[in-house]
Amino acid sequence: MFSKANYLDSDFIQSAGKVAGYSDEELKSIPDGANLGLGCGNPVALSLIKEGDVVLDLGSGAGVDCFLASNIVGDKGLVIGVDMTTEMVERARENAKNNGYRNVEFRQGEIEALPVESASVDVIISNCVINLSTDKPRVFQEAYRVLKPGGTMLVSDMALLEDLPDYLKGSVEGYVRCIAGAIRKDEYLESIKQAGFEEISVIGESHFPAELIAEQPLLKELVTKMNIPMSELQRIGGTVVSLKIAAKKLVHL
Ligand SMILES: C[S@@+](CC[C@H](N)C(=O)[O-])C[C@H]1O[C@@H](n2cnc3c(N)ncnc32)[C@H](O)[C@@H]1O
Repeated sequence: MFSKANYLDSDFIQSAGKVAGYSDEELKSIPDGANLGLGCGNPVALSLIKEGDVVLDLGSGAGVDCFLASNIVGDKGLVIGVDMTTEMVERARENAKNNGYRNVEFRQGEIEALPVESASVDVIISNCVINLSTDKPRVFQEAYRVLKPGGTMLVSDMALLEDLPDYLKGSVEGYVRCIAGAIRKDEYLESIKQAGFEEISVIGESHFPAELIAEQPLLKELVTKMNIPMSELQRIGGTVVSLKIAAKKLVHL
């Protein structure tokens, strides 16, 4: 789904990384090739991850956030990345092996059926992935199941302030290019609540920069193919937000 040729343009990756909120220092601290510029925010920078924590990354891609988290949790902690794509899991494992990471493991699986034990995780992170799922309520139910009571989920994701135009909503290509799968912000928050999470807060909300949308290679292709004028793209861009959400699984005695 995510072809190397389209994503590995280094200028694009660098600018996407900065927009996603990674500092130069963070980008230098992780293996080359771990950041493919696919994220929409850096949950690790905002997180409550502590030394010794067990961290789970939903849709870990090439491992960018797992490696950042690994540097925080240290030898006593563990970071688990789950991704459904063989290519991504292999790439992430290679990054870990070649760079001597011993506290990170990558498991192939779906975020709707996590290959993770119940009540075993302190912090869940996810960066621009849940919008791709066709069953978002199930993803949040699974996240709730695997969190320890007292654990926190911190996600960065795309959501909509208003419904997308029908021609884009129904487009499979739009879906795989991270737009058409996005749901409205209120629906997104409600799914988290329905899964059992409490203390849900939007800790960041920003519009996805129209220039970056226009420069994103796969979107560029889509826009040309569907003949979407730039003004329309900018209007749609204004309804897409990048959210950072924190939610807790509280301890109930
Ligand atoms: C936009 S990329 C983000 C990757 C990574 N989080 C980052 O910031 O670089 C989305 C990733 O989620 C994975 N993915 C999408 N849907 C998934 C699902 N239902 N279950 C597991 N992984 C999924 C894809 O294979 C891909 O690696």
